[in-house]
Amino acid sequence: MAVWYALADLFLARLDAETAHGLAIRALKSGLMPRDRGADPPSLAVKVWGRSLPNPIGLAAGFDKDARVPDAMLKLGFGFVECGTVTPKPQAGNPRPRLFRLREDRAVINRMGFNNRGMDEAARNLAQRRKNGIVGINIGANKETSDRIADYAQSFARLAPLADYVTVNVSSPNTPGLRGLQNKEELSQLLAALTQVRGGGGHPILLKIAPDLDAHALDDIAQVVIASRIEGVIVSNTTIARPPLKSGHASEAGGLSGKPLFQPSTEILRQMRARLPQDIVLIGVGGISSGRDAYEKILAGASLVQLYTALVYQGPSLVGRIKRDLLACLARDGFTSIAAAIGARG
Ligand SMILES: Cc1cc2nc3c(=O)[nH]c(=O)nc-3n(C[C@H](O)[C@H](O)[C@H](O)COP(=O)(O)O)c2cc1C
Repeated sequence: MAVWYALADLFLARLDAETAHGLAIRALKSGLMPRDRGADPPSLAVKVWGRSLPNPIGLAAGFDKDARVPDAMLKLGFGFVECGTVTPKPQAGNPRPRLFRLREDRAVINRMGFNNRGMDEAARNLAQRRKNGIVGINIGANKETSDRIADYAQSFARLAPLADYVTVNVSSPNTPGLRGLQNKEELSQLLAALTQVRGGGGHPILLKIAPDLDAHALDDIAQVVIASRIEGVIVSNTTIARPPLKSGHASEAGGLSGKPLFQPSTEILRQMRARLPQDIVLIGVGGISSGRDAYEKILAGASLVQLYTALVYQGPSLVGRIKRDLLACLARDGFTSIAAAIGARG
């Protein structure tokens, strides 16, 4: 079986990146993927928003934009899965090619532009699932909308009842103007609109931010997050910065993810943790490709982590490997649980 998957990996690696992604989704949909059969050890469990997750390793948004395979991804061993970004209306996204592997840098540049089948299709898919694992939905605005906040409110109303949490994506670099919603005034209005749609009780709301923010912008965002009483922040989306890169695709336009994003996104995570009270959960994302990387984000203040790009290079066996390495890191430093390690080196 392992040989079969190694061959499949080799085959996918030779294809154009987006074609390979489409094939992977189809294989997952038809059950042609390995399963992580063992239960996670209790020391990996994490409690957030009154829910218990078997482990803190999540699939980041963008892999399963239309919520076609969340249960299959949970079966790979992820502790939770985030689907989306979903917009109210279907949209094609940017012209291809728009997804580039930077193999020498263990990175990806994408300028997909929220290609997705719209909120009704995502709602149908989510409604059909068996509901045995934590699945979040990530929402955004259509490129051509005349009212961005109304787009978020509409997707929220439609999708929140079908998910365990909702992520408000204001940080994709591939929809012109979208990141402007991270500005204090607009962000306050957006989060006020969403908390109003949510009413009392209801689903946790998380804000996903860019890594390209200065200290002043982080101050503003932290203030709005606290005032809006939302439950968490995801740090971070892809970067528009271009640190030194070796690959020929380095100058493609779009968001950079993977290894070169690890340090800058972890630094922003640390800075956000210092600005927010402990009851606001942080999810650390950006360049995680090992248990050590996940552990570093947790020490910097993340209760949970997510990844995407490393999966492109290491395949589905990565999830089990990360969990084993993470357990070893905890044991080495004398922590008996993830909870004990969160923010220990903030
Ligand atoms: C091909 C691709 C598509 C993505 N699409 C989305 C998206 O639709 N919404 C979103 O919030 N983030 C999206 N992301 C960003 C990831 O969720 C994640 O924040 C980022 O890639 C950093 O994590 P990584 O280095 O582990 O990939 C995408 C990333 C990639 C590589």
